Amino acid sequence: MEKLRIVGGNRLQGEVRISGAKNSALPILAATLLAEGVMRVGNLPHLHDITTMLELLGCMGVEVAINEDMSVETDCRNVHSQVAPYDLVRTMRASILVLGPLLARYGVAEVSLPGGCAIGSRPVDLHLRGMEAMGAQVEVLDGYIRATAPEGGRLRGAHIFLDTPTVTGTENILMAAALADGRSVIENAAREPEVVDLANCLVAMGAKIQGIGSDTLIVDGVETLHGCHFHVLPDRIETGTYLVAAAVTGGKVRCRDTDPAIMDAVLVKLREAGALITTGPDWIELDMTGRRPKAVNIRTAPHPAFPTDMQAQFVVLNAVAEGVGTVIETIFENRFMHAPELVRMGAEIHVEGNTAIITGKSRLNGAPVMATDLRASASLVLAALVADGTTDVNRIYHIDRGYECIEEKFQQLGANIRRVTG
Ligand code: EPU
Repeated sequence: MEKLRIVGGNRLQGEVRISGAKNSALPILAATLLAEGVMRVGNLPHLHDITTMLELLGCMGVEVAINEDMSVETDCRNVHSQVAPYDLVRTMRASILVLGPLLARYGVAEVSLPGGCAIGSRPVDLHLRGMEAMGAQVEVLDGYIRATAPEGGRLRGAHIFLDTPTVTGTENILMAAALADGRSVIENAAREPEVVDLANCLVAMGAKIQGIGSDTLIVDGVETLHGCHFHVLPDRIETGTYLVAAAVTGGKVRCRDTDPAIMDAVLVKLREAGALITTGPDWIELDMTGRRPKAVNIRTAPHPAFPTDMQAQFVVLNAVAEGVGTVIETIFENRFMHAPELVRMGAEIHVEGNTAIITGKSRLNGAPVMATDLRASASLVLAALVADGTTDVNRIYHIDRGYECIEEKFQQLGANIRRVTG
């Protein structure tokens, strides 16, 4: 088993290149199933989840070619299967994103029902209700979602109100609606930048979508979509993670190839914590001028509010800050698994229901800790970077799902971090 071994105490300094966004790349790769011609997707992050999605497309018959610049070309001419098997879905819940495209393009889809995961129960009922509203017959049998389009094989446009603005649910319904017969209106849609990126990609493929970036998406279905070249947007969560790393170590870090325009909620909180932030069109620099951050209160909520995927990192910021910070998680019911691990490193955190109250300490101590999910793992790495002594972060396969070359990027910023086996 691989782990990350980190010796804390180095003030991070320098520049880091931000990769393409995982949560944008995944739906965009799923959307390639909708294209009649060849699609080329660039700025894909080199991550396990991306490999899993490509494997999933490959097992359906999509021809996938990887170019020298790491862009991927997909060709759906020889698709022969509309099944997303359990073995792949269980390793990556986002496999559910092929449901909408398969159903819209081929009239059938068989996707293993994702189970619960470390951060909550994560149902997909809203995805399924959306497909049903568009006329699909949906049943769950033997652990699989089996969906069939109405007679004639084409979904019908529908008015869909989402109880909660689910990100992948909005994406699934949007992809299905793009090829449906007639107009669909998706109300209370998720507005995350990754949903916007997918919508822009669909438009580049010939889809007719209005209201992109708002909570009401109006989609006039078209008969076919064509291939296009698309460049995935930068990863705002990776960006935020490196900025927090700079903040907790008192350092100065510039993230390049990123987009400050999609980072407002996080930048506001970093400024409140005392960081000096400067931005350019595609870069963000954080300078902590050697000071300790001040505690900040956080409440996660759908975009444009504070992202749940940055919550764990800000728990660490508060754990080493001056003062007491409260962090409220409103998206997932079980997303404080990092708290007990951080307490093992000397943090003072009290969790009550969906609220964590964190009293900042001037020091944390290195300890062996265990990662439970992707963002929790990132938070343990941040804590280790500032802790006294050595920390081993175990079960880092979670981190490799979402952070490209994490140890190389941190080494470049002056961290003492390496991957060890055993
Ligand atoms: N929900 C339902 N029914 C549904 C769908 C969602 O009740 O049919 C609930 C969920 O249980 C949750 C809330 O709605 O309480 C929001 O979940 P959402 O569906 O928005 O999450 P998701 O689409 O499964 C994506 C990201 C997550 C990110 C969340 C929230 C991808 C591939 N995943 O998940 O990313 O935390 O949105 O922003 O886009 C990560 O990258 O580490 C990660 C977990």
